[in-house]
Amino acid sequence: MLARIAGTGSFLPERVVDNNELSQMVETSDEWIQTRTGIKTRHIAEDDTAVSMAIHAAKRAVENAGITPDDIDMIIVSTVSSEQNLPCVACEVQAALGATHAASFDLNAACTGFITAYQMAAGQMAAGLIETALIIGTECLSNLIDWSDRSTCILFGDGAGAAVLQAEDTGEDNKIISVLHSDGTKGNALTCSIGHGKDKTPFSDYVWMDGKEIYKFAVKQVPKVIKEILEMSGQTADDIDYFILHQANRRILEAIAKRMHQDESKFPMNVMEHGNISSACIPVLLDSLNREGKLKKGMKLVVAGFGGGLTWGGFYMEW
Ligand code: ACO
Repeated sequence: MLARIAGTGSFLPERVVDNNELSQMVETSDEWIQTRTGIKTRHIAEDDTAVSMAIHAAKRAVENAGITPDDIDMIIVSTVSSEQNLPCVACEVQAALGATHAASFDLNAACTGFITAYQMAAGQMAAGLIETALIIGTECLSNLIDWSDRSTCILFGDGAGAAVLQAEDTGEDNKIISVLHSDGTKGNALTCSIGHGKDKTPFSDYVWMDGKEIYKFAVKQVPKVIKEILEMSGQTADDIDYFILHQANRRILEAIAKRMHQDESKFPMNVMEHGNISSACIPVLLDSLNREGKLKKGMKLVVAGFGGGLTWGGFYMEW
């Protein structure tokens, strides 16, 4: 049994904020931001929300897959930045699509969220419980940013990406190849609290991170998890057409490519235009590659994410 991506969709808010605009808000410069992160622009939501962006991306993925909402058995939304806890974003998407047969829930695994949603849906497929799933990463991170903190406000953007997964019985001994890891002991490297404390006092905290710790974690763990995926799939790094990774920062992606002795052209990037959109990065990137016709049938892909928690993981698939 395999879990194939049958269609993709994405949505980015209209407003684009470039580095020069940020340099009027905090003490920074286009040169500093580009040198350290590769980021030039990011989309920032004005009227859009995590829910509305998820719905737009979902509709596009359903259309791209050529299915009807009735076909969907499960909707999984990954988000850390929804404006609401209840109802969950996935139920809002289910209602907007009229996906009357779908079970729906949200999950939080930060920037590894899309990978986690893939593994949850693929596992259900392997167990024979569902045939079609809609998995979405949607983030309105601008809600959680301290716009006076130059060390974080330059990094993030808003947007949503979605994929339709379909179970495919190949009749061969094909297994779903997907792995997830976590290390809660390092959770303090990337934090954000919102809501109310136990004494009912409202509290609000912005995204905070230990940038150097996250950099080291990503550059060490991502090549390791890719190696694990390659071993499970019986492929070598040279066999892989694209490594589709979480888009935190251009320097991280370049360092990973170098460590793996692979050409950078095998690591597609959109962090320059969109910044870091947490769990939406990977599906937005998949959607643009799909719509540009860069993903050909049979191409071998390793998809991997890493982020808060700390969490990391990835999967192997053939397009
Ligand atoms: N503009 C100008 N100067 C800045 C800015 C800015 N936007 N931000 C920080 N600085 C200053 C700091 O104040 C510091 O000044 P000081 O030396 O006078 O104290 C100096 O630049 C160096 O700061 P560092 O934090 O040490 O900068 P560093 O070289 O580590 O780069 C960065 C920061 C880009 C965040 C880096 O640590 C990194 O790439 N980390 C990876 C983390 C990441 O990408 N996270 C994304 C979110 S997490 C995720 O998706 C998993």
